[in-house]
Amino acid sequence: GLPARVRIHEVGPRDGLQNESTALPVDVKAEFIARLAAAGLRTVEATSFVHPKWVPQLADAEELFPRVSGLPAEYPGLRLPVLVPNERGLDRALTLGAKDIAVFASATETFAQRNLNRSVAQSLEMFAPVVERATAAGVAVRGYLSMCFGDPWEGPVAPDQVVAVGRELLAFGCTELSLGDTIGTGTPGQVEALLAAFSAAGVGPERLAVHFHDTYGQALANTLTALRCGVSVVDSSAGGLGGCPYAKSATGNLATEDLVWMLNGLGIETGVDLAALASTSAWLAGHMGRPSPSRAVRALTGA
Ligand code: HMG
Ligand code: MG
Repeated sequence: GLPARVRIHEVGPRDGLQNESTALPVDVKAEFIARLAAAGLRTVEATSFVHPKWVPQLADAEELFPRVSGLPAEYPGLRLPVLVPNERGLDRALTLGAKDIAVFASATETFAQRNLNRSVAQSLEMFAPVVERATAAGVAVRGYLSMCFGDPWEGPVAPDQVVAVGRELLAFGCTELSLGDTIGTGTPGQVEALLAAFSAAGVGPERLAVHFHDTYGQALANTLTALRCGVSVVDSSAGGLGGCPYAKSATGNLATEDLVWMLNGLGIETGVDLAALASTSAWLAGHMGRPSPSRAVRALTGA
């Protein structure tokens, strides 16, 4: 069966904007996040506390986060997670009062080197104290796992390899594991196989989220497959913004509007006002200087 309700983990302001060549002013980013909250999204990944030279698009995190950190008072239940790679990033996030963070590992060695300048094992060592200190401070930690289906340098990725790294992240104390199809090559059969491998290893779908990029147009089919396997947390980005700067051939995430259109049709609750969301993405597309790649945004707004 399908879940009655899906929690959408909106990643547009982070995964979306980190790979757009247009650098948006901090005011526009803050307004974007406020409009996403007003449209009913309750998990909005706001930014990253990574090295500013690695991701210049998010180098304004210190300026941006204080402008949005008051939003949960206006929208009860709103969470604003931020990406943190190491203790330096954690210090920056805690100083500004972040309540939710995410660490991000890779299932493959090549991407770990390119994205984190470390092997998989070394990056897990880097995350261990981050998760421990964050948890002790009452901050929830999501674990991302990249390249769960295919890797641009290594090709298809074996489910057992993904499960091994994913279990380590959960063993550290990550409260949720988001399975990333960073380059969007995965197809529904692979999704089913990976979720079955996690299940066989004792990790049920209630601890998992899915994170699909739409490079090959498979994101919605993959999401539906995951929902049928019991997953009920789905990552997406408003208007289909984004990609990943350290993974060649990665394009935008599954568009939140395309996702909500499907979930509405299935009678699955999300709390999202689709019209308000689509007009937010059309507004942002104006700032990006190009139309949204989301089919639903174009259909709903005539953009
Ligand atoms: P490094 O160069 O190995 O860092 O980078 P280091 O530990 O050797 O430190 C070097 C210098 O950087 C030091 O400064 C540190 O203080 C500074 P110095 O002493 O030389 O003056 N530094 C920092 N400054 C600010 N904030 C920090 C920080 N850390 C160190 N947090 C590092 C290692 C992890 C920092 C770097 O590789 C990095 O920032 N990587 C981030 C890459 C990234 O953000 N990628 C995109 C997100 S992942 C993604 O999009 C995938 C996902 O969407 C899921 C999917 O689709 O698969 C999540
Ligand atoms: Mg991503």
